[in-house]
Amino acid sequence: MAVRVVIGSQWGDEGKGKVVDLLSYEADIVARYQGGPNAGHTVVIEGEQTILHQIPSGIMHPDVVCCLGNGCVISPPGLFEEIRSLEERGIIVDDRLLISEHAHVIMPYHRAVDDASEKAAGKEKIGTTGKGIGPAYCDKYNRSGIRVVDLKNIERLSAQIKKNVRDKNRFLTKYYNADRLDADRIITEFQDIQKKLEPYISNVSLYLDNAIRERKNILIEGAQGTLLDIDHGTYPYVTSSNPTSGAASTGLGIGPGKIEHVLGVLKAYTTRVGNGPFPTEVGEPLQSEFRKLGGEFGATTGRARRCGWFDLVIARYSARISGINHWAVTKLDVLSSFKEIQVCTAYKYGKDVIEEFPSEPWIQEEAVPVYQTLQGWDEDISRVRSYGELPIKCREYLDYIQNETGVSIASVSVGADREATISFR
Ligand code: GDP
Ligand code: IMO
Ligand code: MG
Repeated sequence: MAVRVVIGSQWGDEGKGKVVDLLSYEADIVARYQGGPNAGHTVVIEGEQTILHQIPSGIMHPDVVCCLGNGCVISPPGLFEEIRSLEERGIIVDDRLLISEHAHVIMPYHRAVDDASEKAAGKEKIGTTGKGIGPAYCDKYNRSGIRVVDLKNIERLSAQIKKNVRDKNRFLTKYYNADRLDADRIITEFQDIQKKLEPYISNVSLYLDNAIRERKNILIEGAQGTLLDIDHGTYPYVTSSNPTSGAASTGLGIGPGKIEHVLGVLKAYTTRVGNGPFPTEVGEPLQSEFRKLGGEFGATTGRARRCGWFDLVIARYSARISGINHWAVTKLDVLSSFKEIQVCTAYKYGKDVIEEFPSEPWIQEEAVPVYQTLQGWDEDISRVRSYGELPIKCREYLDYIQNETGVSIASVSVGADREATISFR
């Protein structure tokens, strides 16, 4: 396996957690390179569901070491709660989690700003997860962020917190008419956080470099997905990091040449949570049918996910941006009830037929999908474990995706459980 990246190829929630968990059988290390507690990655083992937010999905395997790279933003209270809840169920995290010194810390004022700015935006809000992601990355790029390494020096940290809280309070009270935050309370809170976080603080770049030299198997787990990428997504309705594969190098401190394989997780239809363009979104009653069949409710916020047909324009775009070598197709079982399946092959905008994902937000919003209708298979496939056993129409659907994207499929998921997978290689 060597060094392999797994990314989301649509708007997140493609089933990355399940795919990463399964690939972790062969991994020594699983590392996240971006995002934070906005992620919700579900792993189901023999019917028991675990939702991971900050900790990589490899944690379910007792011999795997998990890393959070410098590109991540860390929310310590959420992280401790996640560790506690895993340990309560016998999954010991202890010395299996390394957090980069260079990762940024999500502070209470980041959540307050996220909340206040979404409220103030009214109908135009992004529909964020409310975890303070955007404001934390803002401070990182504004060079006023607090990094994990800063927790090692409580005196300096206190001064940094005091300054930042003073600045944020001005902003929160004057601009958003929101409540003030108390710097002293935050400092006290961080004295405790510092003690609890210390054992996990590490030089992740150095650790991974040594592991690469020892030819260890490293799995890199993306959060979110291509269309939520700050550069390549449906801006401004995106997250504030780069979920695409290129960021794996910067977000972990390893050379790009070390990455040998990119696996794109691709849901057999499309979903998105939050606001923003979504060309293949369907209307009612199909919307509710998709949501019910696929259990499409957010793993982090519980919000109903918006649903629609599979979009080849997006799949091809994602393959290009991230250099995807193979697909891991997920949730194919959800399509089993449909007599006919629509696949979007291009968009129409006025008289133009568009085959490449457009940059113009107004075209992304108004683009009308051009659909190709494929026959459904009308048969339960959730117990199928080999390609040959799949109904012919189902195989045709998969072949069509491979042919039209030019990327071959490595595995197909036909249920939430770890076992419900068909491996092609
Ligand atoms: P992630 O954010 O990409 O890890 O995906 P989420 O965990 O947020 O959402 C995927 C959802 O689909 C979870 O509830 C999974 O348990 C579930 N799931 C994953 N693969 C399959 C599948 O092949 N079939 C079905 N029916 N559910 C799946
Ligand atoms: P996983 O890793 C789906 C969406 C939010 C919102 C936008 C910005 O589980 O696939 P943020 O809180 O990041 O500033 O919100 O991004 N979003 C996700 N949607 N899956 C996720 O993660 C998401 N993380 C953020 O709904 O539209
Ligand atoms: Mg998710």
